[in-house]
Amino acid sequence: MKIGYGKTHGKIILMGEHAVVYNYPCIALPFFDASVTTTVTEDTTQRLTCDFYDGLFETMPELMSGLKKVVLCVLEALHHEHTNLHITIESTIPIERGMGSSAAVAGSVVKALFNYFEVPLSHEQLLHFIGISETITHGKPSGIDALTTTSTEAVYFIRNQAPQPIVIDMYASLIVADTGEMGKTREAVASIQQKLDQPEVQHHLHSIGQCTTQARQAMENHQPIVLGQLMNEVHHHLDALGVSSASLNQLVNLANHNGALGSKLTGGGRGGCMIALCKPEDEQRIVQALQQQATHVWSMSLKGE
Ligand code: PMV
Repeated sequence: MKIGYGKTHGKIILMGEHAVVYNYPCIALPFFDASVTTTVTEDTTQRLTCDFYDGLFETMPELMSGLKKVVLCVLEALHHEHTNLHITIESTIPIERGMGSSAAVAGSVVKALFNYFEVPLSHEQLLHFIGISETITHGKPSGIDALTTTSTEAVYFIRNQAPQPIVIDMYASLIVADTGEMGKTREAVASIQQKLDQPEVQHHLHSIGQCTTQARQAMENHQPIVLGQLMNEVHHHLDALGVSSASLNQLVNLANHNGALGSKLTGGGRGGCMIALCKPEDEQRIVQALQQQATHVWSMSLKGE
């Protein structure tokens, strides 16, 4: 039987979320512990199956309109608008948690469709198609999610510029904890856009940009303590911009109280996940503390092997 496959992974924004929308830099890492696999098989109708839906493309719910659009655009580009097939999506990336789930799902579907029809797909084309879905899902995407969920390298990214790969090699661990609450990226991005003319909003965005530039230097110089301090600073600015939440602040305080070098929300905020940087020897204690309040905790080493 003919079959097509596509795989992508989650992403973590280390620094620069929200400010990246306004052309400040952002640093993001691929997150391989959570991934999406899509398979495309022959069928007698045009059908899609995922955790939230099992049915015809035509009747996909409003919530999935970004994905529907990208499926139709890819089929049109491949001149297979009327070809019957079954798309099955399996994801371990929690949705609406700032881990790039929507971009990763769109990316894996695009890859699987091109693979099914045995048409080569460039990374540029892939990003273009994910962008179609993300514009509907997020409103004003910077492109960072599309890039990091389809790339194996950490990147320093400025909107509309070529991304620069960053080598991460620090004696440190990164912990990711899920509040269990849906993040509200679209709402959070819009809320900042609405008050862009306020000088303090400009100040916070500018400061996040400066911290991100310094964070890159700290990473290049293998200085986790400096990076941790910058993460705390950025969290303070994001909170002041109104995109944190009580549960995110609670996890940030808990991690820092238990010896993290620094912590912050990651992604769009108002729910979703936070990250904490720590020395490897402190990782277990912080993970255990966060597990008391978070719905899921992951950790990864930042030591390049
Ligand atoms: O998809 P999320 O929740 O990780 O948010 C993406 C990061 C933002 O800077 C908030 C928005 C964007 O498009 O860059």
